[in-house]
Amino acid sequence: METSALKFPTKVLLSNILVRLLSFCVLVFLARFAYVVTVKTHSCDSLDFCFFPNSVKSTAISSDHRRAYYLSVFQDLVTEGVLSANSNSLCIEAALGGEEVAALREIGVSELVRVSSKKLTSEGLQFRNSSFDFEFSSAAGLDRTAKPIQFASEVSRTLKPGGFFVVHTESFVDEYSLRSLLRLFGNFTLVKLREIDGLDSLAIREIILRKQNVTVNHVKRGVYIKGKTANSCAVPRYKRELIRNAEPLIQEEPLKPWITLKRNIKNVKYLSGMVDISFKNRYIYVDVGARSYGSSIVSWFKKQYPKQDKPFEVYAVEADSAFHNEYKTKKGVTMLPYAAWIRNETLFFEISREPSKKNVDKGRGMGRIQSAQSSSSFMDVNRIEGFDFALWLKRVVTEMDYVVVKMDVEGTEFDLIPRLISTGAICSIDEMFLECHYNRWQKCCPGERSPKYQKTYAQCLELFSSLRKRGVLVHQWW
Ligand SMILES: *[C@@H]1O[C@H](CO)[C@@H](O)[C@H](O)[C@H]1NC(C)=O
Ligand SMILES: *[C@@H]1O[C@H](CO)[C@@H](O)[C@H](O)[C@H]1NC(C)=O
Ligand SMILES: *[C@@H]1O[C@H](CO)[C@@H](O)[C@H](O)[C@H]1NC(C)=O
Ligand SMILES: *[C@@H]1O[C@H](CO)[C@@H](O)[C@H](O)[C@H]1NC(C)=O
Repeated sequence: METSALKFPTKVLLSNILVRLLSFCVLVFLARFAYVVTVKTHSCDSLDFCFFPNSVKSTAISSDHRRAYYLSVFQDLVTEGVLSANSNSLCIEAALGGEEVAALREIGVSELVRVSSKKLTSEGLQFRNSSFDFEFSSAAGLDRTAKPIQFASEVSRTLKPGGFFVVHTESFVDEYSLRSLLRLFGNFTLVKLREIDGLDSLAIREIILRKQNVTVNHVKRGVYIKGKTANSCAVPRYKRELIRNAEPLIQEEPLKPWITLKRNIKNVKYLSGMVDISFKNRYIYVDVGARSYGSSIVSWFKKQYPKQDKPFEVYAVEADSAFHNEYKTKKGVTMLPYAAWIRNETLFFEISREPSKKNVDKGRGMGRIQSAQSSSSFMDVNRIEGFDFALWLKRVVTEMDYVVVKMDVEGTEFDLIPRLISTGAICSIDEMFLECHYNRWQKCCPGERSPKYQKTYAQCLELFSSLRKRGVLVHQWW
């Protein structure tokens, strides 16, 4: 991908954020003054920068103003050769008053259809292939569709080769989300990305895409570097920068890991706190070693992970049947009652009877999985089904999805990570939270290391560093 050709309006972007923040502050002030509104900023509390796409919008925009606005937008596109009176046009998610449509007519466009994005993405609608020269989506279109892939493929199907798709968006469109967008619209090239005034005079982004004349090679635009094997992901420069800006790995082995590692979660630079995660098809959180629903899924992911108001699907991977029942009633959560492993096979699952603090907290011993041969030494051994986690992940998610994985698998990470790498599944993970299990100093017994794990802290650090070198934004989970 030719990044050098893309220009990002960072300065304007920054001032735009400031303007939004300022207007937001004024709004908060007014609201408090009037004692009426409680302002809720959703996931913004722990963010480096926040998103207020809809909260500062004046509702009183007149129809005349709208029409004049779109007239000027379309006139600019005419000047640039993107649109002409002869363009067979499709207007997606036009305002109720149809001002976009009226403005296009004023320009002289006569072949003109409007459609809601819901209709566009539903299966019944049948515009012919290559019907349109020009398609326009207002900020209410692509920004809010529940089906980005269907949206993109309908635009792609119905646009003529060489035709233009112009989209308005309230997203900030940094390099990350622009790449997400271009991945959705795989047969398009970016013509222009610019900031323009929105209807309410706060800046929005206008993106002009052009459908390519020839079908592009699918592999080339994927994440794999050409000529390399499938197990190495391309690490674009911006991604390396993101990783550089992430919290540093703890280099020294902590003397009190139960404190240091737990505190470290406060230093975490979340990906969704650094980039705009719009234009992904689905938003997915996979909790490997989920334990009880209330532990990491609720107490951390639901409460603390910045989601930018995106609807996340949750997958909980947990082999211990003691936890399975409570998941049955949880909406939007899929329980996989297996142990994450490197192939499908039956395993033995150790239920620890050591009365450690962690066990008391979680209500039950943490399970370590073992292959069949070494199982005899355990007091209490259960059979469980292991499944090939890497292959499962490859089947369930695509690179168009936003994927967050938390992994706490009691030492099995030293098997699972290499498998994720060798299968290439690692490339589809956007952000990872990994607990690495080693022979740590113990709280109970000063000067004694945990006998449960053989790996050293240095080996853990090496695992984390090698993941970051591969372009995986991995954090140290406690
Ligand atoms: C229309 O395009 C789609 C995909 O772009 C293709 O699968 C389909 O065969 C095309 N239909 C016709 C009638 O050409
Ligand atoms: C593709 O581009 C070539 C020249 O660039 C042109 O001759 C041809 O007609 C185009 N094909 C389509 C389907 O537009
Ligand atoms: C878009 O590209 C993909 C492969 O890159 C191809 O399968 C598909 O048919 C193309 N769609 C259109 C509408 O050209
Ligand atoms: C492995 O197990 C998973 C989960 O049960 C299943 O979906 C998948 O089809 C299995 N794969 C093979 C190769 O048997």
